[in-house]
Amino acid sequence: MPTLPPVRIAVLVSGSGSNLQALLDAGDDLGAEIVLVLSDKADAYGLERARGAGIPTAVVRWADHADRAAFTTAVCDAIQGAGAEAVVLAGFMRILSAEAVERFPLRILNIHPSLLPSFPGAHAVEDSLAHGAKVTGVTVHFVDEQVDHGPVIAQRPVLIEEGDDADSLHARIQQVEHQFYPQVVAAFAAGRITVEGRTVHWEEPS
Ligand code: GRF
Repeated sequence: MPTLPPVRIAVLVSGSGSNLQALLDAGDDLGAEIVLVLSDKADAYGLERARGAGIPTAVVRWADHADRAAFTTAVCDAIQGAGAEAVVLAGFMRILSAEAVERFPLRILNIHPSLLPSFPGAHAVEDSLAHGAKVTGVTVHFVDEQVDHGPVIAQRPVLIEEGDDADSLHARIQQVEHQFYPQVVAAFAAGRITVEGRTVHWEEPS
């Protein structure tokens, strides 16, 4: 049976890139080819990981652009220029304007360290602790025009334990992320994920 070429993806990072590493470590199981790792920060360790894996990198600095719209256009141009069809956000700490969703509709995935819609934003781990929540977790969702809002693809819970601080809780959340994100990206790449309004359906593997 002929096989389809793997989906070409760009991974966007701002920091350590441990989720990028998990995607790299998945190898052929990902069913997707990472054709670009892009960062808004030239010193993001995620770029080192990409270079180590022989993957092209790009830096699009926030400060080099007049506004969010110009930054977003430059990011999308770099992604398309690399031949990527889909985008995987992995700790990318910049908000893109609506142009990104228009150019990659239902083709941008994000991973967020809480069970959305609880605790959106850049401080989800700290906010869950401050709220006194007993359960938090990980959400993978499609990106839409609002921050941390698009259709939920999959979620996993993580219990908050007595004595947790942001570091200990984030470490346990990241253990889950590293297992979980490659599986979700693989399902997306295999065409097993469909969207009806806000509801995401998963098809069984064929
Ligand atoms: C992850 O915890 C992810 O949920 C959040 O940013 C963090 C990125 O970590 N969006 P890393 O750069 O992949 O290590």
